[in-house]
This record gives sequence, C-alpha cells and structure tokens, in this order.
Amino acid sequence: MLPLCIGILGYGEVGSSLARYLLHNKAVLAERTNCIIDIKKIYSRTTKKIIDSGVPASLIADSWQAVVNDSSISCIVELMGGTDTALECISTSLRLGKNVVTANKAVLAEHGASIWNIARKHSACIGFEASCGGGVPIIRAITDGLIANKITSIIAVLNGSCNFILSEMDQKNIPFDTALDTATQLGMVEADPALDIEGKDAAHKIAIMCSLAYNSRIDFSTLQQKGISEVENIDMQLGKKLGYRIKLIAAGIDLGNELCIWVHPAFLPHTHPLASIDGPYNAISVHGSMVGNTLYSGRGAGGRATASAIVADLISIANGSTKQNFNSTVQWADLNTYSRQGDMKQFTCAVYLRLFVEDELGVLAKIAAILADNNISIARVLQEDSPHSSSTDGNAHYGNSGYATLIVITHLTQWGNIERSKQGIEALTQVQSPIAMYPIIEQIQD
Ligand SMILES: NC(=O)c1ccc[n+]([C@@H]2O[C@H](COP(=O)([O-])OP(=O)(O)OC[C@H]3O[C@@H](n4cnc5c(N)ncnc54)[C@H](OP(=O)(O)O)[C@@H]3O)[C@@H](O)[C@H]2O)c1
Repeated sequence: MLPLCIGILGYGEVGSSLARYLLHNKAVLAERTNCIIDIKKIYSRTTKKIIDSGVPASLIADSWQAVVNDSSISCIVELMGGTDTALECISTSLRLGKNVVTANKAVLAEHGASIWNIARKHSACIGFEASCGGGVPIIRAITDGLIANKITSIIAVLNGSCNFILSEMDQKNIPFDTALDTATQLGMVEADPALDIEGKDAAHKIAIMCSLAYNSRIDFSTLQQKGISEVENIDMQLGKKLGYRIKLIAAGIDLGNELCIWVHPAFLPHTHPLASIDGPYNAISVHGSMVGNTLYSGRGAGGRATASAIVADLISIANGSTKQNFNSTVQWADLNTYSRQGDMKQFTCAVYLRLFVEDELGVLAKIAAILADNNISIARVLQEDSPHSSSTDGNAHYGNSGYATLIVITHLTQWGNIERSKQGIEALTQVQSPIAMYPIIEQIQD
C-alpha cells in the first residue's frame, strides 16, 4: 500500500466534501487504488464548522502554518480560494518540498508560472485537476490523453452559475436579474457574484487550459472577458427562433501567429454539442490535429464533483504519476515563454446584430453601408415589431413604440470589424443604443 498523509486548508463547500469522502471511504479507495490517503490535519478560518461536522478534534489545527509545518504531512490540499493567503500557503508548502493539490483556478491563472517554478526548484509537484471544469477530467485530457495532438482550439462552457442563469432565462423566458436572484437563492453564485457573472471565473479556467494546451505562459491581465450581465431576454428568444442558443463561451484558439483567447457570450447553433449543455454543467470541446473534435462534459462545480477530481489528484500524487508527468513533459508555464496573445478582434465568425431602429425608409441602407465600409457583408436581415419598455416580461432595453427590431446576420468576418462598425451604427440618430452583438460559433469541421 502507498501511504499519503495530507493536510487540508479550507473547510467550505469543497474542503468539507473532500474530508467527508476521505473519512468514510478510505478503505474502499485503498482497495481500488492501492493508496491509503490519511487526513492528518484540517485548518479553516471558522473552526466551528469543522467541529459541527463531526471531524475528530485531534485533526483540527489552529493555523495554516501548523498544517504546512507538520512533518508527518507530505501533501497540502489548498481549498481556501483567493490569491493572497492561498498563494502564501501553496508557496510555503512547495518550498518545504511538499506536494500540493488545489482547486484554486484564480491563483494558478494569475501566478501559475511562479508556482510551478517553486515546485520544480524544490522537487515537488502540483495536482490541479479540480481547478478547471470541477469533476470533468479536462486537465488530464490536455496533458496526457491528447498528448499526440497539436491542439488547435478549445471552446468551452466553463461557468456553471452563468450556464444555470442563461438556461433559466431561456427556458422560463425571464430577465437576467430574476434568473440571478434564483441562482443566488440556490447558493449557485460565488460570494462575489461578479467573479462568475462578469466572466472572470471562466477566464481563469481558459487561461490555465490554454497555458497547458499551447505550451505557453498566458498574460491573465490582458485576457478579454465579458460576462452575461448584459444578455437580454429578447436576444435569447430571437436567437431561439433563428435556431441558436446563447452560452457564455470561453475560447482559446491557435491562429498560428497568435493565441486568440477570450470569454464572451455567444450564439451557438442548436446542433453544436455545447448548445445543449444546461444548468450547472460544464463542457469543453477540444480540437486536436490527430483526433479531431473531442468533447468533455459533466458537473463543473459542487463539493462532491470537485472532490472527485481532488481525490484523483491525490491518488496520482501517491502513486508518483503526477511527479513523473511534471518532470518529463514541458507544458508547464515556468518552462515556456509568453506567446503573442490576441483577443477576439482576430476571431473569424458570423455575427448576430440586434438593433432597435426608427421604422422609416433608408435606415437599413445606412447600416449596410457602415458594415460594408468595415468589410462586412450581410447574410440575412429580419425585421420584427419591437416589444415596448412596458412589456410584462421586465426587460429594460426594449425599443420604444415607433421602433422596429432589426436582426442582421453577417457572413464570416473578423470580430474587430464588428467592433469598429458598432460605434458608427450607434451614432446613427435612427438607432437606439446599445445594439446587441454576438459571435455565432460553429463546430469546427473535422
Ligand atoms: N465550490 C465549487 O463548486 C468549486 C468548484 C471548483 C473549484 N472550486 C475552488 O475550490 C476552492 C474552494 O471553494 P469552495 O467553494 O469550497 O469555497 P468556500 O465554500 O468559500 O470555502 C472556503 C473555505 O476556506 C476558508 N478560508 C477562506 N479564506 C481563508 C483564510 N484566509 N484563512 C483560513 N481559511 C480561509 C473559508 O472559511 P470560512 O468558512 O470562515 O469562510 C471556507 O471554509 C476555491 O478556490 C474555488 O474556486 C470550487
């Protein structure tokens, strides 16, 4: 039997689920894996939570230092979140030669290269499967299963809370704020909802995945991110009529001369494999040069799903495979330099535009001229009467009476062309600002 003595830092949703699993399933896990995972100490800010859950008092520590400095512990599991204390705990543990397992995407996306560098210097390693996609084993897929491939694109639905809110808006025909309230009541958004809603959580995850997939350091500070707080129900319903669903997409695409990495709401055709990912689920579509399209999906959050990935990391640390992989492969950010990193401007796609325009002659011609000036040709135009601001479904930005709803679907163009057109179109006196713009993402053809 291979023993692994661990200390757990953080006893929230994930830490408590992990401790519960390990305390009750040690023997079963040992039978299946030949590894015995022993919790030696647990520390968290609020000790009462640990006591109340029935953890033996002998396992409770009174500081993170007491866990990290315990010589009987060889692996620290960091589940506190954030980038301050967590970074200190992880760095200190690695400097002591202890291996680390973490679910903390923020700390890895923002400080990954220096963390891996410290690990390498001190002959330690890090398991972080749970940091991207919760229970979905996407890190193993990228660093192991797809190793024969040159990865060309990652397109993913990575934030369960956003996906839940968009699914609620879509299925119940309700505005964003109502769906956000439901998600908050169900405990599905972070204490700071902006992390989920404004796309930062998804940005952290795509940054980690791109770093590994493209053997590159990623500059998180310049990663373009737009969340779902401006998604309006009208676009969801119009999109549905046209055969699309709106998802918060995190993308990392290798354009050859640069990596195009961004988070943005997008239209997906109903037939796209990510279009049917609903509620709290995550899904990641990875295109590899040999294998073509692959898809990974499952519960992207929740204590049990996340603990499932952490246990896998613990077993891989116990049996030595994490360390072997860390020492023998070169995907790790500390061994690589920054690639040229672009945002959505270079991304080529068809685009959905929705505008409220004065219902008079010549407006469409003016809009078409601005698009043409920016090298954009129109594939389809539809016009509908606008619902009014007094509509009972509560959306705030509906057009005034006398306005029509114009939907323009473009041919393939670069997103940068669309951004340039937006300003010109919104400057037209006949157009009500803001206009809605969504990239339309098609599945890559194998
Ligand atoms: N929840 C998920 O579904 C999920 C999925 C994937 C990854 N993750 C990641 O897993 C990590 C933990 O998430 P979580 O949902 O379990 O968070 P959580 O429920 O907020 O739990 C965090 C725990 O850490 C403690 N803590 C926070 N800062 C601390 C500090 N400075 N010193 C001591 N204790 C501290 C908190 O104490 P208090 O109880 O006093 O607040 C709490 O017990 C995060 O990095 C998160 O991004 C979570």
